[in-house]
Amino acid sequence: MKKLLFQLDTDAIPSVFDTVVAYDGGADHVTAYGGITPENVGALVDGAIFTRAPKDKKHTALFVGGSNLPAGEALLKAVRKKFFSNFRVSVMLDSNGSNTTAAAAVACVIKSAGGSVAGKRAVILAGTGPVGQRAAVMLAKEGAVVTITSRTLDNAQKVADHLKTAFDIEVSAIAAPDLDTRAKACEGALIVFATGAASSVLLREADWKGNPTIELMADANATPPLGLEGIDMMDKGVARHGKICWGAIGFGAVKLAVHRACIAQLFEAPDQVLDAEAVYAKAKSMV
Ligand SMILES: NC(=O)c1ccc[n+]([C@@H]2O[C@H](COP(=O)([O-])OP(=O)(O)OC[C@H]3O[C@@H](n4cnc5c(N)ncnc54)[C@H](OP(=O)(O)O)[C@@H]3O)[C@@H](O)[C@H]2O)c1
Repeated sequence: MKKLLFQLDTDAIPSVFDTVVAYDGGADHVTAYGGITPENVGALVDGAIFTRAPKDKKHTALFVGGSNLPAGEALLKAVRKKFFSNFRVSVMLDSNGSNTTAAAAVACVIKSAGGSVAGKRAVILAGTGPVGQRAAVMLAKEGAVVTITSRTLDNAQKVADHLKTAFDIEVSAIAAPDLDTRAKACEGALIVFATGAASSVLLREADWKGNPTIELMADANATPPLGLEGIDMMDKGVARHGKICWGAIGFGAVKLAVHRACIAQLFEAPDQVLDAEAVYAKAKSMV
């Protein structure tokens, strides 16, 4: 029986990246739809859940993507609402690569830390975007004491409140609109993640180099200038000034491998929801 993946993208034009990875992850056929919303997804889900016998349903799967994470979260909720009894198929959420990117970065960093960061302070600079939010969830589930920064307190607090509701985690919110306030926000941190928009410099080298508590750093930005000045996007657990550094390309191969592995996992059973926790579990099993 053919493995069919239906790509439900919240953007008008569905992501080619996600289509390619879907094939590379083992789908036999991928159908990509753009402009999908909670209002128009119903018939697509019906088509996926009513067509195959229970034992064959695992060969049909759904992937929710697009550049907008809140739109993806709302779409995933609408998809799940259509499921009942054993009329369901497995579904993965990875809006803007948020889950797979964050999972790869956090898994690499946790491995560098020797496995445990429980009770340690983790600061996610510009943590209000899709990647930062998912990294916050994964680090908090590891027991880290997580703070996210934003240029505005309002935005940081909105995201922290959302994460509390959606994932039952406590995340502190800090306004850090410039280099000085972000350096201050990193005081006492063991881990610093930079998840700002492409080309936004978030932390000066002099500030992290002289910070006595930072041991682990990762930067998701692969478009120079990088978020963490003085690291290299190719860094793969490289020691710089005594800190272990991960750059976006350094953990990029893990990110792609995790994405492919999650697609393969979708076809193993018909009742899986691959969101932050499950994608992170997969990444941890792979590093
Ligand atoms: N390696 C990979 O495979 C991969 C995959 C996906 C994404 N990425 C990269 O990962 C990073 C995070 O992605 P994302 O989609 O989560 O990011 P995003 O939504 O574009 O931006 C994240 C946050 O950056 C802050 N920001 C925007 N402009 C800024 C500026 N000039 N100075 C300081 N902060 C600024 C904003 O926060 P506030 O408005 O709240 O301050 C925003 O919420 C990006 O660099 C992206 O290119 C990498």
